[in-house]
Amino acid sequence: MAVILEKVELAENIKEIVVDAPIIAKKAEPGQFVIVVVDERGERIPLTIADYDRKAGTITIVFLEIGKTTMKLGRLGVGDEMAHIAGPLGNPSEIPENETIVFVGGGVGIAAVYPIARKAKQAGNEVISIIGARSKNLLIWEDRMRAVSDELIVTTDDGSYGRKGVVTEPLKEILENGRKVDRVVTVGPAIMMKFVALTTKPYGVKTIASLNPIMVDGSGMCGACRVEVGGETKFACVDGPEFDAHQVDFDLLIKRLGTYREEEELAKRLFLE
Ligand code: FAD
Ligand code: FES
Repeated sequence: MAVILEKVELAENIKEIVVDAPIIAKKAEPGQFVIVVVDERGERIPLTIADYDRKAGTITIVFLEIGKTTMKLGRLGVGDEMAHIAGPLGNPSEIPENETIVFVGGGVGIAAVYPIARKAKQAGNEVISIIGARSKNLLIWEDRMRAVSDELIVTTDDGSYGRKGVVTEPLKEILENGRKVDRVVTVGPAIMMKFVALTTKPYGVKTIASLNPIMVDGSGMCGACRVEVGGETKFACVDGPEFDAHQVDFDLLIKRLGTYREEEELAKRLFLE
């Protein structure tokens, strides 16, 4: 059981919750995730540890209500309990030193990129962040990202805030202008990460993507989260979730994310009825 201590509606269908989870908070590192079971009859879903407070024994999760389980989670309030939470899972992000790193976050991926950018900044790296959302009202954690970045660029698809366009445009400009960039780290929708990888590849800049396949056990046993990286099958939960983006077969990832679309739509419809 894990009690929700705080809940904030960040944007339409995007919620931030602070959860009492002292054992997870004690060990959590940027880049790791938890597997949440909302109620005894619920499925297991992976969600990134967007922040943690070791002293308070809490972790912060930011999630998009996209289907049945995330909607169920969104209906819990302060004082409510989730049935199970397991973690921290996955490998922590590699944090280099003395590098210039561009962090690219899209949608709820901004909250997932935040703890990595914060630790990178604390380690003395130069942090350039590019964050994007479809529209101003869907942009989250701009203040947090600004606080951990030497430079922050905001994009919105519709131009309602920041630069009009997608995150890969300022990324391309930075690379085109010959600015020294040692690595790019990206978290967001698979399609966005695919295009980030395509943007950086001609420049030979090391690019890391945090993959988001469907997961079940989160501990390397079920194989649900398999992804293809450099022609090899990897399990995102134990081998990742971060991989060399230039080696990832994003088209396969996107295809596999759609495997249960009909069932997911049905489950959502029945839940909402
Ligand atoms: P479903 O009914 O399962 O799915 C509804 C729709 O969302 C379908 O169209 C489906 O294809 C699509 N979908 C399902 N899973 C994913 C996915 N993994 N990525 C993209 N689209 C998906 N989500 C957050 O909101 N916040 C996070 O911090 C976060 N961290 C994650 C960390 C990891 C390591 C992974 C693997 C995924 C993470 N996700 C995160 C995605 C999240 O797990 C899914 O959105 C969730 O499982 C959807 O469950 P559902 O029952 O609500 O929707
Ligand atoms: Fe089961 Fe990764 S989620 S092996």
